[in-house]
Amino acid sequence: MRMLTSVISCAVLCQALVACSNDESAVAEQSSSTQIWPAITSDVKTDSQLEDKVADLLSRMSSAEKVGQIIQAELKQVTPQDVYDYHLGSILNGGGTFPNNDKYATPADWLATAEAFYQASMDDTDGAVAIPLIWGTDAVHGHNNVIGATLFPHNIGLGAARNPDLIERIAAITSAEVQATGIDWIFAPTVATVRDDRWGRSYEGYSEDPEVVKAYAGKIVTGMQGRGGTEEFLDDTHVISTVKHFVGDGGTEGGVDRGDNTDSEQELFDIHAQGYVSALEAGVQSVMASFNSWQGEKLHGSEYLMTQVLKQRMGFDGFVVGDWNGHSFVDGCSSISCPQSINAGLDMFMASEPDWKELYANTLAQVNSGEIPAARINDAVTRILRVKTRAGLFESSPSQRPLAGRNDVIGAAEHRNVARQAVRESLVLLKNKDSLLPLDPSANILLAGDGADNIGKQAGGWTISWQGTGNTNEDFPGASSIFDGIQKTAEAAGGQAILSVDGSFETRPDVAIVVFGENPYAEGHGDISTLEYQPGSHRDLALLKRLKAQGIPVVSIFLSGRPLWVNAELNASDAFVAAWLPGSEGDGIAEVLLKTSAGDVNHDFKGKLSFSWPNKADQFLLNRGDADYQPLFPYGYGLSYEDVDTLSDELSEKAPVLNKDDLAVYKIFNRTAIAPWKLSVADSENVLTQFSGNRVENSEVSVLAADKDSQEDSRKVTWSGKGLGAVVFKNSDRTDLIKYLQASAQLSFDVRVHELNESEITARIECGAGCQASVDISGELRSRELNTWAPITIDLKCFADNGVDFNKIDVPFSLISQSASKIAFSNVSYVHDSDSQSDISCT
Ligand code: BGC
Ligand code: BGC
Repeated sequence: MRMLTSVISCAVLCQALVACSNDESAVAEQSSSTQIWPAITSDVKTDSQLEDKVADLLSRMSSAEKVGQIIQAELKQVTPQDVYDYHLGSILNGGGTFPNNDKYATPADWLATAEAFYQASMDDTDGAVAIPLIWGTDAVHGHNNVIGATLFPHNIGLGAARNPDLIERIAAITSAEVQATGIDWIFAPTVATVRDDRWGRSYEGYSEDPEVVKAYAGKIVTGMQGRGGTEEFLDDTHVISTVKHFVGDGGTEGGVDRGDNTDSEQELFDIHAQGYVSALEAGVQSVMASFNSWQGEKLHGSEYLMTQVLKQRMGFDGFVVGDWNGHSFVDGCSSISCPQSINAGLDMFMASEPDWKELYANTLAQVNSGEIPAARINDAVTRILRVKTRAGLFESSPSQRPLAGRNDVIGAAEHRNVARQAVRESLVLLKNKDSLLPLDPSANILLAGDGADNIGKQAGGWTISWQGTGNTNEDFPGASSIFDGIQKTAEAAGGQAILSVDGSFETRPDVAIVVFGENPYAEGHGDISTLEYQPGSHRDLALLKRLKAQGIPVVSIFLSGRPLWVNAELNASDAFVAAWLPGSEGDGIAEVLLKTSAGDVNHDFKGKLSFSWPNKADQFLLNRGDADYQPLFPYGYGLSYEDVDTLSDELSEKAPVLNKDDLAVYKIFNRTAIAPWKLSVADSENVLTQFSGNRVENSEVSVLAADKDSQEDSRKVTWSGKGLGAVVFKNSDRTDLIKYLQASAQLSFDVRVHELNESEITARIECGAGCQASVDISGELRSRELNTWAPITIDLKCFADNGVDFNKIDVPFSLISQSASKIAFSNVSYVHDSDSQSDISCT
């Protein structure tokens, strides 16, 4: 533990802390903190009247009430009655949690929920002090949990726009839409400086360079909260902002989400903390502790960074909220007990789990016993009450505020106009051979690719659901897809746009716009091990090449949460636009790509890369200022219509050589399910029942242990024909199996057919909600001799071609049928045997 130690500060600190040391190393550390971290002057000044009010409230609160204030429960796990009973200070809705569990909850439903929780917190029948509850939400690209809200481009796109004033407007709009639903507090902006683009949260960052992050962070805070020190500060149209995740989240080893940042303290400040500097100056009222550790210590347990650096040195007087059950990962802690975090300076637990009541009870006991010192709990509660008072929460309930319930505010036309501007300004033109762009709108335009008419895909993670998956265009009323915009503009100019996802056509188009890229993901689910786009599958490349081979000029619109290695896709495109994750206003793209009907440029490209673009799939650490800096497109790159592009069509397509010998056979079932995989059966409702002992069954399918070469080394599967039944190998965490796909591996298992008849059996691989592909194996099985064991192999590519993302497999193998049949299987694995042609092949 790092300690501050001059005698005076020690005396002050020691009231709050258990231990305090006086040795020399600590003295050295104190001086490093004062040299590296600046004292910051905030736009929000201390107000002695307000402080007196807070002190008075605090003096009347019991320990039980104080502990309630420092606990934030999750909407799924808490009721207004709980808020009353436990004096809870806060709730949050995690990604994909909605009022009444209803994805289609209306603004009025959100507001009613906020009002009910607020009223419960203000009910002082039991004699407790009435303290308003504060509700926090992840409005990270607009109010993204609410159907119909304006969805702005994710931060990576805003970073390319290089327009701090626009970013401030976006923040203000987001605040207003959040206010309309009665919510007081936003968990944004993310001010991570992203160093390794394998990180699944790359798109939540504005840039790899602290310059952009610093220029934006303060502006966002001002936009969200209103300017500190003026009347608009936290008035009824603004909400509290959070800078997150403190600190170093964008610099973990290997780009691993929640990993360890090993940078020196100077680098931690220079690279990863610049957003905090401008945000604290602008008066941000909350800071979220990060899941990551710094030099081996979890931030949620770092007294040095949370207390000494952030609060004491930089002068932060708001409160530090934890991240989703983040305290449980501190050494010696669990989800239900973590005095260490509070003592280190965390002011509010994000107690997202169903067991928050136990955390409450344990924390109360720790306060009563002095394990959490009185000074510390008082300080935490003071900070929370200070922010609540500043936010005016004592003065009005959610439904009394002027924007409350205003449907017209959610997704308002003027908000969407700003989002469209942001889309336009975020687009980065990487290639424009022979000035193919801008296009003539009166042309005959083909729109291809699975992103062309797919608002969920263009919006990315943190969109209605946590992962951004499971949505259809109907879930985005008022929004437009990229196709919508092109079609509208083309038709207005006498041209036409035809949508054809697979690129087939009847009338030969003048030009094809192909929209493709990453499917939505959030947090660690987006961590990857190579920067190669669609490794081992190159499905979209095939589409580009098909069009190109027919002599059709190809414009690629690449949707992604990070730069990826796309040399082959660039070679196969005449023009190439990095569009990032533009959000709900897809038609902003047409406004740049297509000329006006008078033939003029409508809007030019303005976006400049805020992330370096790789020239190789393994350029993981590639950042401006590197000693050996060899990107394909450097930081700051971006063509406009005036530029003459000279990019060659012959960029190297050589992927890093994989040492296939490093790839041991990947075993999924060998006598038994191999960890982490567990064998279950699923019924037609997809309810899983796990194999145990020597069998498992539901009404659709049964699995029994059987003998092949040795005792119980295989499984006999019987489908009853009563409905869809599946045999599933599953793990709730995702496993990155991409290297098997890259090595052209096959799914292989031994199979014995007992009864098949006309039944259809498919093999399926899954990669999280809505991400899966099946291959019909019945034909192959039917060709087999009955009651005889033989191996069957299927190219993994067959699954990748149909949408499986091998970066994040949660079901590496399953067998599905709905008609009566009986087979046995054994030895399930991914193998790469380049000499043998698969039984079912897709190469
Ligand atoms: C994320 C945060 C988010 C929180 C609440 C966490 O898992 O790391 O960014 O604010 O959940 O949803
Ligand atoms: C929640 C997210 C949260 C995540 C953390 C999810 O279930 O919906 O908001 O960030 O868990 O693991």
